[in-house]
Amino acid sequence: PQYDQPYRPQVHFSPREHWTNDPNGLVFFDGEYHLFFQYNPFGDVWGHMSWGHAVSKDLLHWEELPVAVPEKDGVMIFTGSVVVDHENSSGFCKPKTECLVAIYTGYQEHFPGGTRQAQYVAYSVDRGRTWTNYDKNPVIDLKMADFRDPSVFWDEERHRWVMAVSLPKEHDVQFYSSTNLKQWALLSEFGQLGDTDGDWECPDLLRVPSAQDPTKSTWALKVGLNPGAPQGGSGEQYFFGAFDGKTFTASHEKGAHGWTNYGKDDYCAINFNNIAKDEKPVLLGWMSNWEYAAKLPTSPWRGQMSLPRRLSFVKDVEGLGLKQEPVVETLRDGAATTLTSAPREAPFELQVTFDPKAEQIFGMRIYSDKEHYVEIGFDRKNQQLFMDRTKSSVTVAQEFPGTTVAPLTEGRGFDLHVIVDRSSVEAFAQDGTIAMNNLVFPTKPQVRVETFGSKPTSAQVWKLKSIWK
Ligand code: FRU
Repeated sequence: PQYDQPYRPQVHFSPREHWTNDPNGLVFFDGEYHLFFQYNPFGDVWGHMSWGHAVSKDLLHWEELPVAVPEKDGVMIFTGSVVVDHENSSGFCKPKTECLVAIYTGYQEHFPGGTRQAQYVAYSVDRGRTWTNYDKNPVIDLKMADFRDPSVFWDEERHRWVMAVSLPKEHDVQFYSSTNLKQWALLSEFGQLGDTDGDWECPDLLRVPSAQDPTKSTWALKVGLNPGAPQGGSGEQYFFGAFDGKTFTASHEKGAHGWTNYGKDDYCAINFNNIAKDEKPVLLGWMSNWEYAAKLPTSPWRGQMSLPRRLSFVKDVEGLGLKQEPVVETLRDGAATTLTSAPREAPFELQVTFDPKAEQIFGMRIYSDKEHYVEIGFDRKNQQLFMDRTKSSVTVAQEFPGTTVAPLTEGRGFDLHVIVDRSSVEAFAQDGTIAMNNLVFPTKPQVRVETFGSKPTSAQVWKLKSIWK
């Protein structure tokens, strides 16, 4: 019953109660995936920002734990990351052991002459259960009002820590290095490129393996943009490029710049630190948008995470593409069935492929009743994948209804992989090179799925098990 309200996500993490935004400190350690998250322990709107905490053994079934790092002494705990300090480089761990170190932005709302954001450190020697703030915080202070969201990883080649952190108003990502997580030296800056229509937040620099040849990899830098994303409000762009330990250089290849998600509801995604070397990186984001996040009609919680997605890159005649594969298979309840328009209840998963022949527009509609539905489709005339939620029922806010679109790439096919939960639709198309997440608040739990425009050449449906049972 704790997780059984209308609209309560059944395959996505949401806190038992109260407000969440960005995921923070994603890390795998000692058999557990940790999800920390921007959290208001006292209410269902933004405020008193602290790090909430949940753990999972499989990236899907989460157990919520007490608040990990609370707001303290007028310092809010903003977005950041957690690393495993294997060799006790920080000196925070017990002798000869490894421990977890968090690097986050401390936000002082009442600072003489304005507000202040600087980078802070905390550590945990008990598998993330309790945290101690470093007594010499902050560790990087540029005396600025906007300077946030450090993302730290271990640079294998150069044996040191690297941080990407944002100067939101300058549209700039700074890179720092450190050998002990306390003293940081500026390496370089990257910015004023791609889309600069809003604040740059939540940078994440990571190595992405090739989908075709796992021995090859490239670097990608992901940056949040708010507001001003093409879909409206907050969104995230990525750059493929090269990182030599010091400088990130964007590639000019076709497809080297794109959006990690073309829906309205995926923001401040970061990848998990310390996952096995032969595994693809896993990205997870906040499934909402600053335009209306505070108005979502859910209670007693507000905010949820996206599904985790495994990342790789594809390279074909059309150029580069960021491929995302949602982690969901283990939730399948029984074998796939064929797609009929019989009523079904979320959560479920669909895989549908079309051979359009002469059709220009085709796809599927998810109906909650005759007048209310979400339409997902391919529009060949405009070369777009689209998702239309204007008729999906609860309007939420003026900015909520609308159609999100993504450019289609010729030759990458007409396949759709869709995960429907009680208040969201996540779509992956063209072999995962397009991702589109949108929140949807249907009129009732039962929906019917119908295809339109062109008959699918294959269509499979899986019922999904709830992660809360
Ligand atoms: C992005 C963001 C971050 C900040 C956090 C505060 O959604 O604005 O830049 O650290 O949320 O909650």
